[in-house]
Amino acid sequence: MPATASSNRPIRDVVFVGGVRTPFGKAGKGMYAETRADDLIVAVIRELLRRHPQLPPDRIDEVAIAAATQIGDQGLTIGRVAALLAGLPKSVPGYAIDRMCAGGMTAVTSVAGSIAFGAYDVAIAGGVEHMGRHPMGEAADPNPRFLADKLVDLDALSMGATAENLHDRFPQLTKERADRYALRSQEKVAKAYAEGKIQPDLVPVAIRSAELGWGLASKDEPPRPGSTLADLATLKTPFRPHGRVTAGNSAGLNDGATGCLLADAATAAELGLPVQMRLVGYGFAGVDPAVMGVGPIPATERALASTGLSISDIGLFELNEAFAVQVLAFLDHYGIADDDPRVNQYGGAIALGHPLASSGVRLMTQLARQFAEHPEVRYGLTAMCVGIGMGATVVWENPHYVTSSEEAAT
Ligand SMILES: CC(C)(COP(=O)(O)OP(=O)(O)OC[C@H]1O[C@@H](n2cnc3c(N)ncnc32)[C@H](O)[C@@H]1OP(=O)(O)O)[C@@H](O)C(=O)NCCC(=O)NCCS
Repeated sequence: MPATASSNRPIRDVVFVGGVRTPFGKAGKGMYAETRADDLIVAVIRELLRRHPQLPPDRIDEVAIAAATQIGDQGLTIGRVAALLAGLPKSVPGYAIDRMCAGGMTAVTSVAGSIAFGAYDVAIAGGVEHMGRHPMGEAADPNPRFLADKLVDLDALSMGATAENLHDRFPQLTKERADRYALRSQEKVAKAYAEGKIQPDLVPVAIRSAELGWGLASKDEPPRPGSTLADLATLKTPFRPHGRVTAGNSAGLNDGATGCLLADAATAAELGLPVQMRLVGYGFAGVDPAVMGVGPIPATERALASTGLSISDIGLFELNEAFAVQVLAFLDHYGIADDDPRVNQYGGAIALGHPLASSGVRLMTQLARQFAEHPEVRYGLTAMCVGIGMGATVVWENPHYVTSSEEAAT
């Protein structure tokens, strides 16, 4: 008798085993100016393997790598070429993924869906963006009908202009609040570095410069630990004359790569892989592209609705800081204070940098570390805004969570 495929397969639990990233660099004349993008993501994949020797490489079922600009050394199906370059067996497939800034986050949710469905047991998801070699929008050819038919506002193609639009829409989100938020991001990153909280996530990268010879990138280049409010107040507003968005209260233009291992919970147990987070749910949403920075709000609503949680259940937030104003819009919406200690405990992209498609996995890697430090927190959220008007949110559960009654009993 011919076999019949099983139609009532159970949904499986997906766990975050661990994540790493390269130090982030400044695009242009920064430390990766003469380093290829594919070499950055290869360093990440090799480090994931090195940190998990109990994982036989041929058990990896997929390598999904995101890049917002998929040409040159970020093209050629970057997930597949990076897997081969990293020395994974030729039997391990790979693919490329793009949702602009949320590419890495989408790589995670895509392979997670496949793990939950039972198609994969273990997968690598990540992102890479070398904004020096591939400036934002390189070789883009938007259909003229976008503008002719007024489908999107001209501003939608300049992320900084969309941030200025948010200041217009929410007058309570003043430049002063944005600058204060940006300053705190710098201060939190400096503190996290001083306390050794960022370094464990980094894989040092060998770099070469024709002028300086070989070197090692071992820490993030963008942070400006000595920033002051007075300095921030005087910066130019490149997106609008007398605007409010500056180089100081925006993420910069950066190079970097991130990656993580995701697994079916039972497979992780079988292989002895650590469990740093459990995936609870996720949501993506579209908004008016001219105010793309509000995207994380409806995305979070979707993620919460699908998981049965509410915002008050979230004990830690990792929000991508594309622009201070857009994080403030999220916080205001949920009545969370600008300096709420649950938000971006190690600082964020304003200080660390935002190599577009890679950033989503940085948020997850940092949340995983904070979960280990905070067993009293059960749920955490990673969220980001996305170009052309979208938002992305992923909700995670802390495997280290202990209730206060459990704690009292020990
Ligand atoms: C805002 C932006 C245009 C600035 O680019 P830039 O001019 O190359 O940025 P720089 O790092 O050179 O900074 C500009 C100036 O501000 C100064 N500056 C930046 N941050 C500062 C800080 N925290 N404190 C003091 N000065 C600061 C720099 O020293 C520089 O000064 P200079 O002109 O005297 O040299 C660019 O970073 C950008 O486009 N960011 C947004 C990226 C984006 O859209 N990402 C996608 C999000 S969805």
